[in-house]
Order: sequence, then C-alpha cells, then structure tokens
Amino acid sequence: MKNKYLYIETFGCQMNVHDSGQMAVLLRDLGYEPTDDSAKADCILINTCSIREKAEQKAMSELGRLMKLKEKNPNLIVGFAGCLAQHLGARVHGRVKNVDLVFGTHNIHRLPEMMARVQKERKPVTEVGFSSSLHSLGIFAPPPKGAVGAFVSIMQGCDNYCAYCVVPFLRGPEMSREPKDIVGEIEKLAGRGIREVTLLGQNVNSYGKKTGGRGDFVFLLKKINDIEGIERIRFTTSHPRDLSEELISCFGSLRKLCRHIHLPVQSGSSRILKRMNRGYTAEEYLEKVARLRRVCPEISITSDIIVGFPGETQKDYQETIDMMEKIRFDSVFSFKYSERKGTAAQAIEGKVPETEKKLRLREVQALQDRHTQEKNTSLEGSVQEVLVEGQSRNSRQDMTGRTSSWKIVNFEGRSELIGRTVPVRISRGYLHSLRGKQITP
Ligand code: 5AD
Ligand code: SF4
Repeated sequence: MKNKYLYIETFGCQMNVHDSGQMAVLLRDLGYEPTDDSAKADCILINTCSIREKAEQKAMSELGRLMKLKEKNPNLIVGFAGCLAQHLGARVHGRVKNVDLVFGTHNIHRLPEMMARVQKERKPVTEVGFSSSLHSLGIFAPPPKGAVGAFVSIMQGCDNYCAYCVVPFLRGPEMSREPKDIVGEIEKLAGRGIREVTLLGQNVNSYGKKTGGRGDFVFLLKKINDIEGIERIRFTTSHPRDLSEELISCFGSLRKLCRHIHLPVQSGSSRILKRMNRGYTAEEYLEKVARLRRVCPEISITSDIIVGFPGETQKDYQETIDMMEKIRFDSVFSFKYSERKGTAAQAIEGKVPETEKKLRLREVQALQDRHTQEKNTSLEGSVQEVLVEGQSRNSRQDMTGRTSSWKIVNFEGRSELIGRTVPVRISRGYLHSLRGKQITP
C-alpha cells in the first residue's frame, strides 16, 4: 500500500501545538505519516489561532495558498481546525471553496469519523459543536524519539472573560481533567524517557476548582512531584488573581518545580486592569511578585503585556512602563491591542490610534530587551543546572538545554548528555540565550 502523508501547519499558542500533536496521533492510526513537505501531502491540516487579527489573516492566507495544491492533486484532503475554524464554522466554505473539513477545538477526537465521511461522501464536513466532556484532552500522544520534555493538557477552556479576549468563546467553559488521568499520562511519559513536563491550561491555578473535592492545582503538583523519572515540572499560564499563598510556597518547597513563573500582567495601570476585567490591581500584582521573590529569590518571572487597550492614556501607559521598571521581568511577550468580535472591549470607548499603539509597543519591547540583556549578563560566572534537550541548531559541537529559570543555554558537549541535567558555568549572557562550559566533576 502506498504511504500516505500528513502535513500540519500550526498557528498560535502551545495549546494548539499540543492539539496538532493529537491530530497527528489520530491520523497515524489511519496510516498517515507526518511530512514537512506540503506538496507531498495526502492530507493537510491547518490548526488556526484567533487571538489577534494578524493570526487570523495569516491562517486564511495559508489556507488559500495550500488549497492551490488541490489543483494538482484532487484527492488531497484539506482540513481547517482550531480557534478560527471554531469561530467561522461553516462560513469557511463560503469564503474558500472545496475545503473538506472544518472542525473546532472540542472535536479533535472525532477526526477519524470525519475523515471517513469526507472519503465516503466527498462532501465538506463541518463539526464545531462544544462538548461537555474532555474527549480530546485524553488522547495520548507518544513523545517523539529522543524527546526530553512533553506538554500535558490538564484543563480546557476559560471562564475569565477578560474584556479583550476571545478564548472563552472559542474554547468553551473551563473544565479540568481528573488528577488520576493526568498522573497516569505523566507516568507513561516518564516511562518513555520524558524528564520534564509542562502542564497546560488557560488558567492552571484554577485547576480543579469546579470539580471540587478531587484536588486543586497544588494537590496535583505535589502528586506529580512524586512521579519517578520526572525531574522538572513547569506550568503555563497562570492568572495573577488566582495565584494562591499555597502555590507561591510551592516554589520554595517542591523540589521538581522549576524556578520560573509566567504571570501575565497585561497592564501596569489599575484603571485599565479594571476595564480589562482582570480582577487584580497593579499593587496586588506587585505584592504577589514580592511574595514569590521572598519564597524563591532566584525565581524568573515572565509576563504578557497589551498596549493600546481602549481608553489607555499616556498616564496609564506610563504606569505599565513604571511597573516594568519596578519588576524587571526576565522576558515579556508584548502585543498591540487587537479588537475581537463579541468581546466586551469592543464596546469600550477611547480607541487608541494604530500609530500610537505601534509607538508604545516599540518602547515596551526596547525596555524589555534592555532588562532581559541585563538579567542574562548578570548570570555570567554563575553555575546553572541545565537539562540537556538536544544538539544546538547552530553548531554540531554544541548541546542546548534550559535552566530551571527557562533560559536557553548552549555549550560544547556530546549527544550522550541528552536527557541529563548537568552543571554549566555561564560565560556569556546574550539577549535570547546563554553560553557556557560544562563543569566536569
Ligand atoms: N489583543 C492583543 N493581545 C491579546 N491577548 C489576548 N487577547 C488579545 C487581544 N485581543 C494577549 C494577552 C494574553 C496573550 C496570550 O495574548 O496578553 O495573555
Ligand atoms: Fe483570555 Fe483572560 Fe482566559 Fe487568558 S484568562 S484565556 S486572557 S479570558
């Protein structure tokens, strides 16, 4: 039988990367092998993101480009998945002709049935309904050979309704997986050589709140901390409002929990935070950061910042800059506010002009680059424990890995080190990575 090939293009967040992995597993069971060459594919899936307008535009233009391959290969199956597919539903067929499959964020587990229908009926299939179960999260994606880290989805959806954000509309209400299912999955991963797990969810610190009684996020972390073979635990993303005292203290007490937290602040102005419906003030955020640093002085703190939210004045924006100066984040993902249909922020007055948003974004990025560089330079001379992930892309003599604080370290070493944690003395701090020399005992 001829080999069948699957080409997946993924846009957006880690959650989407994880979902794409699950799609690949389901299609592998139907005989599809992954390929990086779209021209060779028998099935193409585009897993889309809708968080900002730019992400949507990219996904649509990629769909248009890849559809051209159908002219040469009429048997090619093209599927449009993820958040934008969830948003547009059957409207995709109106915009682009001959798309075979459109499916949403809750329908991944139905992929085999949808593929069978497309092949049998040769008619477009659309499935974007929400489900009240967690089918798609339970699909086990075996890690690729030699992988050191893996992502594990612990919950889906979001109930927060931040005023700018479409996620609650596209990924549905918050639902947590059972602790025993998560622990079982991580034990399986550890058995296959995985040393580091990153727990995924839109707001991991509210894990288990709705299920009640079966354990909260701290309970889950402690369980995972006991799994043999797992050396490091990370999680993303957490909401400052739900960052509890108990979770903060885990950074001092749980040995395997990495010394890093991604804690999106979004704005340094309490007035804007209120409009954003974030549920905390700038002072409360600063206080939480201070407590994290008291428990774990070396913790690295990264964040997300939006500039140009409706009504953001020069003074509000300056407060974001002041907050950045006070905290000195290790790194920041910063964005221009992008208006999304159906969100509360659409109705808020005081739209900031695009040119002003651009200016503010450029300044935030320049300031953060300065802070990141200063932080990385300050690590020169220190010894960092590095979990080695693989060969460096830039040099065959170099290995690459990360510190507990999530910084990339490159150093000269052999591939036998992959999967091991080794001490490395940092010789140079760059903007995006560190360079060092392994300390041999
Ligand atoms: N415009 C700009 N940035 C946004 N984010 C979410 N929605 C929007 C939007 N409409 C950013 C937030 C969030 C990150 C994942 O994306 O900073 O934390
Ligand atoms: Fe969006 Fe806010 Fe939920 Fe994050 S917490 S996914 S920003 S609504």
